[in-house]
Amino acid sequence: MPRPTAPTTVHDSLVLEPRDVRFDWSQLPLHWIPDEPMATHTINVLHLLLPEGERWFVKVFKDALPMIRDDQLREEVLGFIGQEAIHAEAHQEVLDHLLGQGLDPRPYVRQVTWLFRRILGDKPGLTPAQRRENIIERVAFVAAIEHFTAFLGNWALNSPGLDRAKADPTMLDLLRWHGAEEVEHRSVAFDLMVHLDPGYLRRVRGMLISGPLLVHLWARGARFLLAADPTLEGRIKPTWREAQVNGRRGLLPQPGRMARSALRYFRPGYHPTQEGSSSQALSYLATSPAARAAAS
Ligand SMILES: [Fe+2]
Ligand SMILES: [Fe+2]
Repeated sequence: MPRPTAPTTVHDSLVLEPRDVRFDWSQLPLHWIPDEPMATHTINVLHLLLPEGERWFVKVFKDALPMIRDDQLREEVLGFIGQEAIHAEAHQEVLDHLLGQGLDPRPYVRQVTWLFRRILGDKPGLTPAQRRENIIERVAFVAAIEHFTAFLGNWALNSPGLDRAKADPTMLDLLRWHGAEEVEHRSVAFDLMVHLDPGYLRRVRGMLISGPLLVHLWARGARFLLAADPTLEGRIKPTWREAQVNGRRGLLPQPGRMARSALRYFRPGYHPTQEGSSSQALSYLATSPAARAAAS
């Protein structure tokens, strides 16, 4: 089955390498963007969603492995699995740190775990044909979510507003290392989906379900964290207006840009390599303190 042509030559020769990074969170302040609790917690939602979400990606892709009939794609999927498994654990350590600072993320994480394991998890009692269909459908959800993770990764790599606000450098490195790997492997889920089912409807359905779900989970997560922050005592409630203001200040991705990016996913000629820059991602990974330490 032909794979869509990718315009980026860097991607074609890319071998995805899991980088076994380590971060020291012992000095991380609760509001790691100083005096910006709303922006801090809006980004912190990633730590709530990604450990379970990325473990789910790994499970779905392992289930899909026997269905792959393309050696290069199989290698990329294996590299993707290795990278996402490390991402999940890196964000899990931040969750553990939040708990140590008196912000208990577990009630929200329990809901996310239920969603990924029970609602989006394996369905027992399926025929082989139904199981194949179920796996392809879940790969399409992952492909749509990976469009957002690449968008966010690209934003993290191009977010001088966070440096100007003196955001914690270790957290910035986590976001940019992870963001760079998201940009680096942004084609894999999409290529796998097209390999298993090249139909346009599959792609559309994946985004129509994943996009609104992600927005809902993110807004709910920001509300949860601001309410659970022991230093705020429920005084700050997130609003779209505030998110837009923080977006313009470069502390958060701009909601309008994110929505326009989601719309590009529906273009018939879309391919993930049209978004973000592999060269920029690899340049960051060559200088990232955590990635350099992992390589040495
Ligand atoms: Fe990831
Ligand atoms: Fe990813």
